[in-house]
Amino acid sequence: MNDKSALKQLIDADEFSNKLNLDRKTYGLVFDKRTLNSIYYIIKKFNIDFIDFPISSGKESLVFKVIDIKRKAFALKIYKMSTLKFSNTFEYIRGDYRFDKERINRSNIVYIWAQKEFTNLEDMRKAGVKGPVPYGYHKNVLLMSYVGSKNEPAPQIKNIDTDFDILYNKLKLNIKNMYKKARLVHADLSEYNVLYYRKNPYVIDVGQSVSAKHPRADEFLRRDIKNITAFFLKKNVKCNESDLYRYIKGEEYD
Ligand SMILES: Nc1ncnc2c1ncn2[C@@H]1O[C@H](COP(=O)(O)OP(=O)(O)OP(=O)(O)O)[C@@H](O)[C@H]1O
Ligand SMILES: [Mg+2]
Repeated sequence: MNDKSALKQLIDADEFSNKLNLDRKTYGLVFDKRTLNSIYYIIKKFNIDFIDFPISSGKESLVFKVIDIKRKAFALKIYKMSTLKFSNTFEYIRGDYRFDKERINRSNIVYIWAQKEFTNLEDMRKAGVKGPVPYGYHKNVLLMSYVGSKNEPAPQIKNIDTDFDILYNKLKLNIKNMYKKARLVHADLSEYNVLYYRKNPYVIDVGQSVSAKHPRADEFLRRDIKNITAFFLKKNVKCNESDLYRYIKGEEYD
């Protein structure tokens, strides 16, 4: 096992920040000591050998492709400690009976995010919804299966060309299973958070997803439906919000 070299790669500021286009400030925010310790914990626990390449660097998270000693690929997602806004975040957790609200505060809420994403990915999996397989989490770091080929992560559906009628039908079944079987509403669903892999849509980024019993679940579901319908309409798929809403809420299966 070579956990030291993986960690060393991570803290090798120049190579890392250049590749990701991170400015000094962002870089400092992400890799505070607690985050480095969490990464180290996951790297050790899952025998991660090295970091292959950065996949994405956004406002709220960083995602890397990492490889374990058996050459299996994973995606390591690191939630940034300081950019998650407490009030926004709390909206998604409040009203979710699965989380112990008394113990959530400003300094530990980012940890809830990784836990929530892990649990949601597990529930989706049990419901047969395609998405990354969750392996583990520690504080603000999540390890899941890598979706993509050797050299490239799977593209977001916004960046592909395909038969969008077929894709829409597959995605709507996934959203329905997510709602009916996993009892979850994604709450940030759009063409950015669906990857295209082996001809199938893979739903990602489910940290903010809420239980279908959440007081605002219906509002979030309608917003998801609006985003997805708008995207597929642009791709000339015959669809509309109310049909999709009825399909997801309805008992019948196509
Ligand atoms: N398991 C995975 N395998 C391959 N690529 C992934 C995986 N998870 C995430 N990605 C890539 O990383 C990007 C960011 O991940 P995600 O959507 O989960 O984070 P995010 O919270 O949206 O981050 P931000 O909004 O701050 O960019 C995704 O759009 C996708 O391209
Ligand atoms: Mg995203």
